[in-house]
Amino acid sequence: MKKIVIALDGYSSCGKSTTAKLVAAALGYAYIDTGAMYRAVTLYFLDHHVSLTNPKEVKEALSNIEIDFHYNPKTNRNEVFLNGLNVEDEIRKMYISNQVSEVSVVAEVRRAMVSQQQKMGKKRGVVMDGRDIGTAVFPDAEVKIFMTADVDTRAKRRQVELLEKKQLVNLGEIKQNLQKRDHIDSTREESPLRRAKDAALLDTSHMTIDEQVDFVLEKVTSAL
Ligand code: C5P
Repeated sequence: MKKIVIALDGYSSCGKSTTAKLVAAALGYAYIDTGAMYRAVTLYFLDHHVSLTNPKEVKEALSNIEIDFHYNPKTNRNEVFLNGLNVEDEIRKMYISNQVSEVSVVAEVRRAMVSQQQKMGKKRGVVMDGRDIGTAVFPDAEVKIFMTADVDTRAKRRQVELLEKKQLVNLGEIKQNLQKRDHIDSTREESPLRRAKDAALLDTSHMTIDEQVDFVLEKVTSAL
């Protein structure tokens, strides 16, 4: 059967990764969480005190960064590795969420990540979630979905996710972080978060995960 690229873009915490994982599993496709890549770069930049306004430092740091995904049978998920180290849990912490959008604005960072993502999806048969997949990484993706949801719903979902990882963060702080990231992500110069002209809109405010997955799979069926 023909293999395609499925691009899931949208605002922070509207269910992109959960939907993407299930769609990928249903189709036997690879799932690539591009947000995890920007988070891993942020972790490296913070650890190495890289100045975002110093192009030389940014370039050198990027040349020292290797990001991979490996399947972990214990957790049944693909986990992100930064220079050989599993950083899956670390990159989900609030201090990374609070810095990641500033790092993602940097043009050199975007160029490096986009190029790696294009290589990862070259053979197609991938579900990729992020902010610019349907507009910049794979403008030729066969299925493009743009996800959104009411911000209070998103903040509550994110709080539950963090609690599952034993992180207790108050709702106000989470909501503020989501709004700040959405603003920076949507207004940056390089590949801002926006709905591609040919992306289907999926508002998940009142939807179950199963309904979200069905919505995407229906689009896939029509594209195949
Ligand atoms: O998907 P997640 O919320 O983990 O993404 C974290 C951040 O990474 C986003 O808020 C955004 O700043 C950045 N990002 C991006 N482009 C992508 C994916 C994520 O700029 N394709």
